[in-house]
Amino acid sequence: MDLNTRMQNVAVVGAAGKMGSGIALLLALELAFRALENPRDTFVLSLIDTHDAGLQGLLRYVRDQARKEGERQVNRLRALFRDRADLVENAEMVEAFVAEVMLHLRTGKTLALAGDALLVFEAAFEKEEVKFQIYNELAVLCPPSAWFLTNTSSIPLHVLTDQCGIQGRMIGFHFYNPPAVQKLVELIVPEGCDPELVAASEDLALALRKKTVPARDIAGFIGNGHFMRDGLRCIREMEHLALDYGFVQAVYMVDKVSRDWLLRPMGMFQLIDYVGIDVFQLILRVMDKYLQEGLHSDLVDTLLEMGVRGGQTSSGGQKDGFLRYDKGRPAGIFDPATREYVPMDPAFTADLDGRLGPHPDPALTWKALSRDPGKEGRLRAYFATLKGLDSLGAGMARNHAEDSREAALDLVRQGVAARAEDVNAVLTLGFFHLYGPVNDYLD
Ligand SMILES: NC(=O)c1ccc[n+]([C@@H]2O[C@H](COP(=O)([O-])OP(=O)(O)OC[C@H]3O[C@@H](n4cnc5c(N)ncnc54)[C@H](O)[C@@H]3O)[C@@H](O)[C@H]2O)c1
Repeated sequence: MDLNTRMQNVAVVGAAGKMGSGIALLLALELAFRALENPRDTFVLSLIDTHDAGLQGLLRYVRDQARKEGERQVNRLRALFRDRADLVENAEMVEAFVAEVMLHLRTGKTLALAGDALLVFEAAFEKEEVKFQIYNELAVLCPPSAWFLTNTSSIPLHVLTDQCGIQGRMIGFHFYNPPAVQKLVELIVPEGCDPELVAASEDLALALRKKTVPARDIAGFIGNGHFMRDGLRCIREMEHLALDYGFVQAVYMVDKVSRDWLLRPMGMFQLIDYVGIDVFQLILRVMDKYLQEGLHSDLVDTLLEMGVRGGQTSSGGQKDGFLRYDKGRPAGIFDPATREYVPMDPAFTADLDGRLGPHPDPALTWKALSRDPGKEGRLRAYFATLKGLDSLGAGMARNHAEDSREAALDLVRQGVAARAEDVNAVLTLGFFHLYGPVNDYLD
């Protein structure tokens, strides 16, 4: 059965979630274009979630985004609608496209809706028991030829396939957040996976304009394999610094160095907040269960017990976590001793910036560099300066860069990544880093 036939009956489980809604949008647009190109075929996209209001919000989101996509692709629509004499203006074509997108969608709360699906994307909660329950049901409900594309961030796929009797029929099609924007799909191929499923997944990624990076079926894969270890090393560094400088001061310093001195888009504590401290803990737990290497943080547990969670609001706003946010920007730091946020006012930051020492090049920021065609040369010059600096900040940055490189090389040594370039690709494409952790900038 070819991919186009499979694309005629697709389901997304967990469709109203952060990842599921982006995946649903990508598929809804792709199916609409396929339907316009293959008018004799029928295309169905079943959007399944246990959350009613979420499903309604999803339909609204897909409709609004389909309009924007139609406006972007109006020339393609003109060609596809060339026989429709009733459509003259661009706006009419765009509205016809929106109607086409919505035509293929059906929503529901029960997995039975996926009963005739040939491709099932799953982006439900990252909890083993939830995924076991879903796949045990799907194994019975779906045709034996159905393929399952899971978005799990950490659970080894062979555990899911063995528990649920779907060996050979599952692949990890791991989108990054937000799926509609991020170019990366980490492709996790468990042992015994049908080679046709692997080939079809590559074709599908191409159709969705994604770049695939292969990862072995080892808990956490490449993305979280690096992020969790990088996050834990920053927490440990912060706890060590806190002995001399105090907790909130240490959080500020580590966050600042990991963002501004390593030229990353976010500091580590902001990134953990963005992902959600609860999600960070869930992934650590799953990884540690399978890898048994002490991937755990008492501090993370304590913060969650105090109700400090981070994560996003339903409209995409940042919730407070390690940091407090004002219009999306860090404005305070949580102090577990008082359970209050200490404001990051100028007096507080100036003192700590003084202790870190002068930044090697204050004009160089992630934002400026990400648009700079001469980025590579500037990065080399920057790290050459960083290498020669004798200050607390420079030492912290060098140590972090070295640990990040070791974490990446460990993934290669453990066979999670076939090559250092694959880890670099995941960090640059999936985490928006300007450079991969395996580099010679500081050698
Ligand atoms: N959030 C990220 O940054 C990110 C990135 C990559 C991968 N992932 C992975 O994607 C998956 C989803 O993560 P998320 O952040 O979108 O979570 P989320 O909590 O935003 O969404 C999960 C959705 O699943 C639904 N759900 C739960 N049980 C269900 C069931 N039995 N049937 C149908 N729907 C069910 C929920 O109602 C919710 O809408 C997880 O496996 C996660 O590890 C997340």
